[in-house]
Amino acid sequence: MTTLFKNIKELIQVRTEPVAFLSGKDMAILPTIKNAFLVVENGLIANFGEMAECPNNDFSEVIDATGKMMLPSWCDSHTHIVYAGNRESEFVDRINGLSYKEIANNGGGILNSAKKLQETSEDDLYKQSKLRLEEIIKLGTGAVEIKSGYGLTEKAELKMLRVIKRLKKNYPIEIKATFLGAHAVPANYKNNKADYLQMLIDDVLPKISEEKLAEYIDIFCETGYFSVEDTELILEAGKKHGLTPKIHVNQFTAIGGVQAGIKHGALSVDHLEEMRDEDIAALQNTNTMPVALPSCSYFLSIPYTPARKMIDAGLPLALATDYNPGSTPSGNMNFVISTACIKMKMTPEEAINAATINGAYAMGLEKEVGTISIGKQANLIVTEPINSYGFIPYSFGNHQIDFVYLKGKKWLV
Ligand code: NIG
Ligand code: FE
Repeated sequence: MTTLFKNIKELIQVRTEPVAFLSGKDMAILPTIKNAFLVVENGLIANFGEMAECPNNDFSEVIDATGKMMLPSWCDSHTHIVYAGNRESEFVDRINGLSYKEIANNGGGILNSAKKLQETSEDDLYKQSKLRLEEIIKLGTGAVEIKSGYGLTEKAELKMLRVIKRLKKNYPIEIKATFLGAHAVPANYKNNKADYLQMLIDDVLPKISEEKLAEYIDIFCETGYFSVEDTELILEAGKKHGLTPKIHVNQFTAIGGVQAGIKHGALSVDHLEEMRDEDIAALQNTNTMPVALPSCSYFLSIPYTPARKMIDAGLPLALATDYNPGSTPSGNMNFVISTACIKMKMTPEEAINAATINGAYAMGLEKEVGTISIGKQANLIVTEPINSYGFIPYSFGNHQIDFVYLKGKKWLV
């Protein structure tokens, strides 16, 4: 099966040399080819270039993309899309003046989602979650990381991870799974956090590695949730089972989680709304990707990750949605990119790099997706007719997607 896309107005994020991620000034560069063609063979990008060089073979399918742009699908490296029900009532509570913290302290928040999920069957959870997966695919996401963390019991955490495994099997999108058992301390361990962590380590982690249910280990390192010491304990245990750290840090307070993540070789440190100069300095010249989640800042009215300061200090940055029922009930990467430009002063080039190749790196998928390169998966966005790629973040609240392709096949659901 070979497909030729011809007359592409502009082919965006074209990389002929392998690139793992982009940092600092390099993030401002977004290579493109105007008036281009692209060939897909057996689900992979097989060739691309200027129309003047377009091959004349017998293709199984020829698509005329006149007026349209093409770019690699969004890579959303941080989500919690496997959850039960929603927390719309807490949204209204916050409108009426309660804070996220007050709601959590009253038994709402993560514990509220955990109660709902524990009462939901695996089949029902799968049905609810697949709708969100289909929703984000239509919005241009072609690779996604999904976390557990709304189970908070052995049974319910494994249920979440098995649902993620089922989604992996049934959908052509790339999915990576993360074990986030240490998302909150459940009510029955309220004064016994150490025992809860030990239960995760002794009972849940061995089953996860036995059933190959996750690639990554996460923890909510935050005042009132888990300390830096807890973080080190969980990351060490995860690593013994082959899981790489990818952690929630510096959302509300900066307590040293960034440094703990780097020390344990975290692939990414995510949130970073509160960044001290020492946190920025610690990330310099490491392989740990900082990940910003601007939709979460928007929804909770908390500070935005200081992207400008970080990129100007030479750091890389990835953008992700954080799609979850409490702090970010949206999986729209197009909105994330707009918000990064509008509120975090990232340029369209920086935002698109952050949402493609840097997001791919933050999931360990930089060799598979995130750029237009020969041999990578043909996970592609074909835009509506637009004049420049800057129109994608400019037209905030909207998206410019005509069609998406996953592994070379048009997504029609
Ligand atoms: O990434 N911060 C921790 N976890 C989620 C939100 C959890 C919730 O409120 O359900 C986040 O924002
Ligand atoms: Fe999160």
